[in-house]
Amino acid sequence: MALNFRYIMYRTNTCGELRLIDINKEVSLAGWVQTVRKFGSITFIDLRDRYGITQLLFSENLNALLDANPLGREFVLQIKGNVHERSSKNANIPTGEIEINVTEYNILNKSALPPFTIQDDTDGGDDIRMKYRFLDLRRNAIKKNLELRYQVNRCTRNYLHENNFMDIETPFLIKSTPEGARDFVVPSRMNPGQFYALPQSPQTFKQLLMVSGYDRYYQIVKCFRDEDLRADRQPEFTQIDCEMAFVGQDDIIQIFEGLIKQIFKDVKGIDYTDKVERMTWEDAMWQYGNDKPDIRFDISICNLKKPKTIFTDKNDFAHLIKDVDFKVFDEAETVVAIAIPGCSEYSRKQTDELTEWVKRPQIGMKGLVFIKYNTDGTYKSSVDKFYSELKLKTIAEAAHAKVGDLILILAGAEEKTRKAISDLRMYLADRLGLRKSTEFKLLWVIDFPLFEYDEEGNRWVARHHPFTSPKQDHINLMINNNPVIENAETYLEHPYANIKANAYDMVLNGNEIGGGSIRIYQRALQEKMFAALGMNAAEQQHKFGFLLGAFEYGAPPHGGIAFGFDRLCAILGGSESIRDFIAFPKNNSGRDVMLDAPSTIEEKQFEELQIKLNIK
Ligand code: AMO
Repeated sequence: MALNFRYIMYRTNTCGELRLIDINKEVSLAGWVQTVRKFGSITFIDLRDRYGITQLLFSENLNALLDANPLGREFVLQIKGNVHERSSKNANIPTGEIEINVTEYNILNKSALPPFTIQDDTDGGDDIRMKYRFLDLRRNAIKKNLELRYQVNRCTRNYLHENNFMDIETPFLIKSTPEGARDFVVPSRMNPGQFYALPQSPQTFKQLLMVSGYDRYYQIVKCFRDEDLRADRQPEFTQIDCEMAFVGQDDIIQIFEGLIKQIFKDVKGIDYTDKVERMTWEDAMWQYGNDKPDIRFDISICNLKKPKTIFTDKNDFAHLIKDVDFKVFDEAETVVAIAIPGCSEYSRKQTDELTEWVKRPQIGMKGLVFIKYNTDGTYKSSVDKFYSELKLKTIAEAAHAKVGDLILILAGAEEKTRKAISDLRMYLADRLGLRKSTEFKLLWVIDFPLFEYDEEGNRWVARHHPFTSPKQDHINLMINNNPVIENAETYLEHPYANIKANAYDMVLNGNEIGGGSIRIYQRALQEKMFAALGMNAAEQQHKFGFLLGAFEYGAPPHGGIAFGFDRLCAILGGSESIRDFIAFPKNNSGRDVMLDAPSTIEEKQFEELQIKLNIK
């Protein structure tokens, strides 16, 4: 085999580069063998690298050499040859008009037979692709995702740099930062019996940076959370983490709306000119049953009987469904309806299917009531026995149904029913093709409650995190009232249940892509907040003494936000699963199946750490 060009230059061009204008040029390429097709004495090879695929033609004179040194899939190959116009062109790839007439070749490395095909529609299942992630990453589909991720990264950095933000790194071996999940902990050899926590976010550091005067900070940073995993959650994930001093909510909203719009423009070529709606948390819950509504489609909830744990002073339509002795509605805590456009002609089979869907354990409802607002103007329902046509009409009107709509009604326990109607809304929108991955709709959800009631501990927990400030008008509610909940039954009447926070989430197509708040920056208020969450003075000092101390040395008013970088990329790439947008993700049990991590460590390491296992 001729090796004489190997050490001079591996390649003159990439496999995605050559076109008709390059005809007759002598080139060398290097890449991976995608396919080998032998036709008599000639052989075609598709050579692939990061940039594309180029067809190689091995003619008769290389036949003997090829027979002696056969090429297999994923072999690493270097070739030299001349660019020719193809006789049969391939319009599907950019290099499809040319091929390389190979004069010399060199096998740089062999490959074992890969366990799945390295193609867009691979034959490899999830597990095998995760185990051989380095091969999966060769596939176009994943490569495109990582390219998109890199583009979002660059655009973010450019935008924030232009706006005077400074990238400052913060440590990973720290003390716990509460973001609502469990910490991953790291034992310290030099301090036996003591542990670092990996940051759930750089929250306290970015606030300290504000105290230090770096008034516009950002970081594209890893965060670690030991929580149950879902398609949009990984135990280690990346945030675009930002903080600003001397700002209010409107400033943050304006700057970061700008960032997301810039990303739309640079990465997707979309000029997002729509005004981004701001919806209060209460309105989101009232109209959509959740705090991250997908507003790309116009289906909203009609609260026939409202969830009382959320809404004390909103008016529902309870009068429309009572006095008919229909126990399912009478006995339910909550009754909610949605009108599905154009589905009044659903067959019995189709409505039965929907009923089965809401009865699945994940949804957990006992049944589904429907009203058809037929195209001839009549009403037909699964509860005709109880409700006259006139009553059905008033319910349909309350649900904003139009002629031809199918009204679906769920009844049951408050939280479950609210969640079920919100899931049903999304499910039907998916089925009806109303959630297009090429359409993007942003939304700010604002005015979240500051506290959430924790039933198990009969106490308040922070809804966002303990550094979030209450709304200016609600500070007195917090300062002047004792946080203790005397009677669990009436926790809703506690003044803390009504305190709203200076907190905001950015929602994209029904996904929470970012969240933040204006912070507390005065020691006394921060102490009050910690106390409200059940921390005594000694605990406060132990856990957050550094922050309370810093607030005594001229802490400026400040606030910030963090975006889920993986989530943002996944949605821009048309997916809700973040795994394919992370080079080396974990599976649903938090394992890296390629590394086989987590794994046991050696006895010697335990000894050094002075740790004894006690696994039950
Ligand atoms: P929060 O906890 O809301 O706020 O997180 C910000 C954003 O990070 C994303 N996210 C995740 N993405 C993937 N996997 C996870 N496990 C995961 N958890 C969260 C979400 C979320 O909106 N320190 C605050 C921010 C602040 O107040 O400035 C924080 O971390 O998209």
